[in-house]
This record gives sequence, C-alpha cells and structure tokens, in this order.
Amino acid sequence: MKLDILLGLQWGDEGKGKVVDYLAPKYNVVARFQGGPNAGHTLEFDGIKHVLHQIPSGIFRSDILNVIGNGVVLDPVIFKKEIEGLSKYNLSVLDNLCISKKAQIILPTHRLLDAAYEKSKGAKKIGSTLKGIGPTYQDKIARQGLRVGDTSLPNFKDKYQKLTQKHLQILEFYKADFQLDQLEKEFFEAVEFLKTFKLVESEYLINSELSGGSRVLAEGAQGSLLDIDFGSYPFVTSSNTTSAGVCSGLGVAPNSIGEVYGIFKAYCTRVGSGPFPTELFDADGETMQKVGNEFGATTGRPRRCGWLDLPALKYAIMINGVTQLYMMKADVLNVFNEIKVCTSYRRENGDIIDILPYEIVDEKLEPIYESLPGWNCSLDENKEFDSFPGELAGYVDYIEKAVGVPINMVSVGPDRTETVVRDTVEA
Ligand code: GDP
Ligand code: IMO
Ligand code: MG
Repeated sequence: MKLDILLGLQWGDEGKGKVVDYLAPKYNVVARFQGGPNAGHTLEFDGIKHVLHQIPSGIFRSDILNVIGNGVVLDPVIFKKEIEGLSKYNLSVLDNLCISKKAQIILPTHRLLDAAYEKSKGAKKIGSTLKGIGPTYQDKIARQGLRVGDTSLPNFKDKYQKLTQKHLQILEFYKADFQLDQLEKEFFEAVEFLKTFKLVESEYLINSELSGGSRVLAEGAQGSLLDIDFGSYPFVTSSNTTSAGVCSGLGVAPNSIGEVYGIFKAYCTRVGSGPFPTELFDADGETMQKVGNEFGATTGRPRRCGWLDLPALKYAIMINGVTQLYMMKADVLNVFNEIKVCTSYRRENGDIIDILPYEIVDEKLEPIYESLPGWNCSLDENKEFDSFPGELAGYVDYIEKAVGVPINMVSVGPDRTETVVRDTVEA
C-alpha cells in the first residue's frame, strides 16, 4: 500500500487534528513525522474537546496503531502528562502507541535555552512556543542529541549530564535564571514512564505495515509556511513540515507516497511573529478571531487573522504535491457579506507578483484582492456539497480553479460530524 499524508498548508492550526480523527477509520496506522509539543491538535466528538500535542490524533480509535516517528522531538514530561490526561478514557495506549527509538528527546535545558534565545532576540523574537523545539533539533543536527533509545543504555545519565553541562555553559552566557533540580526530577520520572511504552524501530514497522497491506496516514504538525527551508525564515519552526519531511521523519521512500491531503482554513491565521501579507487589523480581523475562536491550542495566544492568500496557498500546494484539498472553518465566514481573496502582491517597487518572494521577511508586500459575495447564512443544515448556498459553492469553485486542485472536503464546525465530503470521493 501507499502511505497518505495529511498536512497544513498555511501557518499551522488549520484543523489537522479534526481531519485526522475524522479520516482515521479508513486507516490502520497514524504516524507523526516531525515537530513535537509545539503542536496542539484539537479533536471534538461526543461533546468533548481534546487537545493532543505529541500523541497522534488516531489515539481515540482503539483499532489504530499510533506511531511517533524518528523525525519527532519528544518531551517525556509533556508525554507523561498527556498520557495521564487520557487515562479517564480507558484507551489501550500501551498497546496502540509506539515510539521510535530514533526520536530525539527534549531535555529540561532545551526548554530553558529556547526561552533564553527568545529573550535575547528582544523585539525580533520568533514567538516560539518555548517547548525546546529549536534547541533540540539543533543538537540533533550537531550530532550530540539524546534519543529515545538511549534511555535504556546503562550510561544514559552520563550522556544526559554531558549534554546538560554544555547547555549550562550557554545558559550562563545568557545570564538565564532558573532552578534545574525540580525540572530534572520530573524529567527522570517521566523517562522511566516513557520506558514502559513500546520503543521501536519505526521505519521497519511502518514499511512492514505498508507491505502487509495496511493503510498508513502521516499526520503533519505546524504548517507548510513554517517549514525550516520553505517558510518565512527565520520566523519558522525547526523541522520540515512539508511532504519531504515524511520520508526522513518516518523512513519511507518517496515512491511509497499516495495521496497528499492539504488542509487550509477558508481564511488565514498565524500565531507568533513573522510576515503575514493579508493580516487584518480591522473589524473583519476581529470578527474572524472571535467567531473562529482563534486562540493557540498550545499557548493560548491570540492568533493573527486575515483573508485567504492564494499565492501562499499555491506555493504550499507546489512544495507538497497536494492531490486533494480540504477547506476548514468555512462556517467562520458565515457572517461576512463580502469575502476577499488575495490573488497577487504589489512589491515596494510597484511590481505585481503572484509568488512568495525570498524578500518576504524584509519587504512589505501589499495584498491585491478580489471580492466574492458572502453566503451570509448558517451552514448547519448543509450536509452535502450539492446543498451549499450558491456563494459558498462559488467560493469553492473559485479556489479550485485558481490552484488547480479539487477541494474534496469542507469543514463547517469543530465537531467530527460537522464535515462535508464531496460525494464523488470514495468513503
Ligand atoms: P491543528 O493544529 O491543525 O490540529 O488545529 P488546531 O486544533 O490548533 O486549531 C483548529 C481549531 O479550529 C480547533 O479549535 C478546532 O476545534 C477548530 N475547528 C476545526 N475545524 C473547524 C471548523 O470547520 N469550524 C470551526 N468553527 N472550528 C473548527
Ligand atoms: P500545530 O501543529 C501554529 C509557531 C510558533 C512560532 C514558530 C516557532 O498545532 O499546527 P517553535 O515552538 O516551533 O519554535 O515556534 O512556529 N508554531 C505553530 N503555530 N501551530 C503550530 O502547530 C505551531 N507550532 C509552532 O507560534 O511562531
Ligand atoms: Mg494547532
């Protein structure tokens, strides 16, 4: 079988958790391939809202194997809290959750370093979630990180001490103020807890599942415009959030990839710093934030809001090889009489472009909009594409024509059931 990928095409928080949970019954395995506890994936069903940070969003389906792949950075302390938070739901996490021995471990000092680096940047800060993501990937690339498999080595504590000593020297340089004792106590307790789970060679596991006929879904975290290579660097996260990250983050070959589901909001949001050409600072932006309840699922920070950005969407589709689009949060636009879509940008020198230029971070791009009529009504009763109000059907059609990829799902509310799938798509 081929492995399918589901990932975000904007700046994260597109609704990946909801869709993975929705699609999960079609799959045998759900696997995270990058990122870590900077992610916050929300799932809503049976009147309960769940937010997952490190655990794949297939965890609530008892017959699905959930894998944390080698490309992930794992914080044992957050992992333990997350698992404990799930204990009331009687899930068999010890059976249906596996963790790659090659996943990197986030140490308490990685989190302290993240905070120290951000503080030192002042107004130019990235707006990191402060979960230690950047410093952990930094140690991975420097070939000095600790991996999940190391926790069973007799010299694990020595390795820990050696790396922590290096971190302490850097923290001293930044004059960081902290108490490590309690953090270390929690960390080592959490490491013992982590060791009770199935720690595996996940690349063998995933490939043998695929060759045995299982259906595997790779669950992206963050969004394509936060990719370390293709995002608005340096205002990005520290991993490849795009399709390419699946090959290195799970150990699957490019020719094993099947569908690439690209998830995008019917408008745009961004949390943290960095360029956002269509960002709104007016009543429309406030309405999107309020109606869409746009607050970060990990940090609670308000998300910046703006109109849909087609050059950015097309870029993400190109980088990822998206085969199907899923449009999220259409219901948030119910209250607008007019909907704007950015089709190109005017550069500071007056040139009109429809690509994301290298200079996006340093140059102000003025969005050029087209206006479409809003549908201005509730979508609660719209359970099929055919019953969409004409203006929503027109919005879907307009985007499909502009980007050349079909929109096969429209999400009209946070709940699992508030999902409208095109009837031509196989269930
Ligand atoms: P993720 O990180 O991509 O999984 O997305 P988040 O969970 O961080 O943010 C998406 C937010 O939108 C969550 O609060 C979801 O419950 C919510 N959500 C998802 N789909 C819809 C939708 O179609 N309509 C509305 N109103 N909310 C949605
Ligand atoms: P999900 O998976 C939205 C943003 C942060 C910051 C930048 C770097 O829920 O979509 P980091 O902590 O990685 O060093 O932060 O990336 N960011 C996210 N924004 N959704 C996320 O994840 C994010 N993960 C990181 O706000 O701007
Ligand atoms: Mg999120």
